[in-house]
Amino acid sequence: MGMLAGKTAMITGGTSGIGLAIAKAFAVEGAQVVISSRRRQAVDDAVQLIGAGAIGFDGDVADPRHHDRLADEIARRLGGLDIYVANAGINTIRHSAEVPEAEYDAQFAVNTRGVFVGVQKMVPIMRDGGAIVLTGSLASEKVLDGHAVYAGSKAAIGAFARSWALELKDRGIRVNVLSPGPTDTEILAKLGVAPEQRADFEAGMAAAIPLGRLGRPEELAQAALFLASDASSFITGINLRVDGGMALL
Ligand SMILES: NC(=O)c1ccc[n+]([C@@H]2O[C@H](COP(=O)([O-])OP(=O)(O)OC[C@H]3O[C@@H](n4cnc5c(N)ncnc54)[C@H](OP(=O)(O)O)[C@@H]3O)[C@@H](O)[C@H]2O)c1
Repeated sequence: MGMLAGKTAMITGGTSGIGLAIAKAFAVEGAQVVISSRRRQAVDDAVQLIGAGAIGFDGDVADPRHHDRLADEIARRLGGLDIYVANAGINTIRHSAEVPEAEYDAQFAVNTRGVFVGVQKMVPIMRDGGAIVLTGSLASEKVLDGHAVYAGSKAAIGAFARSWALELKDRGIRVNVLSPGPTDTEILAKLGVAPEQRADFEAGMAAAIPLGRLGRPEELAQAALFLASDASSFITGINLRVDGGMALL
């Protein structure tokens, strides 16, 4: 029997990179998977890739009404939720002096408020004994050039997790953070790394990672599976770095 047999799991940003890998891994372990992201076509494509009866919704995590709709649909169609992975996130690299107000607001609206409101709306439909996994970032602990706003938006995630771990303890709902280091996903292209610069960019990153390479989305997914499943039944309120040791340097 799979590690998540009989469980229903919702993953935001489940159409790409780490979120898609998590959705696939959870489905392989027997979960009923629900995903969301903004692009309808990407949702439909990911649902096909995940298989196993996965369900997808389009919407923006920065919009509180999206979470209301998701909670209503999941409660109505699936009867409740066992696992919530708040994974959708965006990043831009820019020195603080150059950050436009709209870019600051967008990162906090998605990375911070989107996580807060998502958990706020999902907890009422979650079953006791569930698990919440928040995708943070190594950048919230380790200074990376041009990442001040992103780091700030992700640092809040750790504070949320510690508060929620206590707020939800009596329902047996565990709350943990998964903090990726540099991982080979579409987010790198979205940062503006041109295809011809990609090899140099990755080599530069790899040199700063003791294990000598970027992470793979599937490796992050296995860590998420650990935090979402009974394999971590005595763990709540932690920040699990999956960074090839990058925090050490
Ligand atoms: N890759 C890394 O090196 C790295 C390192 C540290 C932390 N992380 C974190 O890991 C998480 C996943 O990143 P990734 O690398 O897998 O990135 P990715 O490949 O760019 O995937 C991001 C996912 O989030 C969705 N998304 C973005 N904005 C959204 C919004 N406003 N509402 C709903 N969905 C939204 C995207 O789909 P749509 O575009 O369709 O909305 C996509 O499915 C993020 O929180 C990121 O900050 C990544």
